[in-house]
Parts: sequence; C-alpha cells; structure tokens
Amino acid sequence: MPSTKWVVVCLLLAWLIKTAVAQEKAPEKKIVNPLGKDKTAIEAGRTQFNSGCAVCHGPTGQGGRGSRLAEVDRVQKMPDAKMFEIIKEGVSGTQMPPSALPDEKVWQLVSFIRSLNASAIDQDVTGDGAAGESLFFSSGRCSACHMIRGQGGLIGPDLSNAGARRSLSKLRQAIQDPDALIEPGYSKVTAVTRDGRRISGVAKNNSNYSILIQDAQGRFYSLLKKDLKALTHHKGSLMPKPSLSETEQQNLLAFLSRQSLETPAERTRRIEHGKEIKP
Ligand code: HEC
Ligand code: HEC
Repeated sequence: MPSTKWVVVCLLLAWLIKTAVAQEKAPEKKIVNPLGKDKTAIEAGRTQFNSGCAVCHGPTGQGGRGSRLAEVDRVQKMPDAKMFEIIKEGVSGTQMPPSALPDEKVWQLVSFIRSLNASAIDQDVTGDGAAGESLFFSSGRCSACHMIRGQGGLIGPDLSNAGARRSLSKLRQAIQDPDALIEPGYSKVTAVTRDGRRISGVAKNNSNYSILIQDAQGRFYSLLKKDLKALTHHKGSLMPKPSLSETEQQNLLAFLSRQSLETPAERTRRIEHGKEIKP
C-alpha cells in the first residue's frame, strides 16, 4: 500500500516546514542593545557619530542628506536589532552606506541615537524645578490654560505626563515657539454665528456639517456649520509666546521634564519587564 509511504512523506514535509518556519523566526528573537543607556557608551557613540554620520544626519540628528534621527516616531519605534542592521549593512538603493565598524561601536551608535529620542524624564535637565513649578502656577500663568495633576485650566493639553511623553527639545520648542507645532485637537478657530455670537477657542472636532469648539473657560460649543456666518482657522497656536528669561525657561523645563503619571518605581518595573513603550 502506498499510503504509509505518503504518511511518511507528509510527516517529513511537515517537519521540514516547521523547522524552516522556526529558522525564519529565529532572527526575530529580541536582540537588545547590550550597552543600553550607559553614559560612556552614549558619549563614545556621539564621537563616532560626529566623525562618520553627522555629515548626512546632522550633529543633533536633525537630518539633512540623511533622514532625521532625533525625535521621530519611526526611529523611536525601531527595534535595536533593526537599527543595528541598518548601520551595519546600510540601506541599499539609498545614500545610507554600510559600515565596517565592529559590533561594539555599532551598539554605541545605537545608544547615542536612542539618547536623541529619550523622554525628558530620562535626560539630565539643569534648572530649579521648584522655581519652575511656582512660575507655572503663578507668575507665568501657564496654569491658566494647562492642567497638571488636576490643577489648572483646560484649554491647553494636560501636562501631567509631559516629561514622560516628550523629549526635552520638544518641550523646549513648545515653550520657545508655540506656533511651530500645533498639537492635534488644539488648533485655534473663531466662529461667528448668524445671530452675531463670536466664539473663539480650539477645534476639538470638525466635520463637514459641524464643529466642536472649546473656549478658554473650558466650555464646549457644538455648532452646525449652516448656522455660522464665518469660521476662521488660525494658523498659529492659541498659546501666546511666553516672554521668559533664560533662567526662567530652564526652571520651567526642569519642572516639566519631571512630570510623569508613573512613579519612578513603576517606571523601572515596566522597563525591567521589557515593555519599554512610550506611555
Ligand atoms: C552619505 C550619507 C549618509 C551617511 C554618511 C550615513 N547615513 Fe544613515 N542614512 C542616510 C540616508 C539617506 C538614510 C535613509 C535611507 C532610507 O531612505 O531608508 C539613512 C538612514 C539611516 C537610519 C535609519 C533611519 C530611518 O529613518 O529609517 C539610521 C539609523 C542611520 N541612517 C544611521 C546612520 C549612522 C549611525 C551613520 C554613521 C555610521 C550613518 N547613518 C551614516 C544617509 C547617510
Ligand atoms: C492661553 C492659553 C495658554 C497659555 C497661557 C499657555 N499655554 Fe501652553 N499651550 C496652549 C495650547 C492651546 C497648546 C496646544 C497648541 C500647541 O501645541 O501650540 C499648548 C501647548 C503647550 C505645550 C506642548 C504640549 C504637548 O503636549 O507637547 C507645552 C509644553 C506648553 N504649552 C507649556 C506651556 C507653559 C510652560 C506655559 C507658561 C509659560 C504655557 N504653556 C502657557 C495654551 C496655553
């Protein structure tokens, strides 16, 4: 009977496929940077980067001939192993060249590129956080629009998690130049209704037929477009450019960069469990 033969052949095939799949999966095994956030490694990586990579990627990773490496989602989410492979082997068909560096130096570069994407809470920030806090809640009037841990206004984004969510340079940019990047859900609009009411605030929701506006007092207005005489979308941010001294700005950054919804212990536990996801 040929059927036994077929069973054997089938079993053999199944085994072959299984091994092939297992082998294909093998490189996917999580390879993480053995140097991690080691400060010496980051500094060695920086030196290496300046001598061989900065020509294309810019000394701060801001991009140029090469892609932007600092503070981009794509790079933040790129697994260590993938970044390692790109640096080692280059990207064929693009200007990204392969490199003959030993593995250790490549990992140093990975550490450095990661540091360009670190959350503010993981970065050393100079300045007086306590002074920054009082500036935030009193003379700087930031809390008129922003809430931190339940205290403050509603029209700007809640900043309770700002240090964990944002990098230091994103926070700095938000303070120095609010118009540069408008958070989704916070674009400034002014609507004038047919009966002459004028409503200014941020557009929370905008469809063909209606718009939801939140004003500076936190009140919501759901307006039908057919009831509006005019609707203006402003280009800039609703946030005025703060006029702060260098010291004040640094103090504010020292305060904001420590804002996190997780306690340091919770954070350590999460990272140790290998779930280094941005909160
Ligand atoms: C001659 C210019 C050039 C040099 C030198 C160069 N790169 Fe690149 N690099 C590029 C370009 C262009 C890309 C984008 C490739 C693509 O389109 O996928 C890139 C992509 C990358 C990426 C992937 C990022 C992404 O957006 O996908 C990393 C990481 C990277 N380079 C790191 C390095 C490092 C580290 C060095 C130095 C050892 C280096 N590069 C040297 C041009 C360069
Ligand atoms: C009149 C209201 C208002 C005031 C006052 C104000 N902000 Fe803002 N702020 C906003 C709005 C609205 C946004 C979101 C639009 C944008 O991204 O520019 C924002 C955005 C931000 C962001 C970026 C938020 C994010 O999620 O990345 C930071 C950081 C920030 N503000 C800090 C401050 C600080 C510090 C002060 C005080 C010096 C301040 N703001 C004063 C309204 C305000």
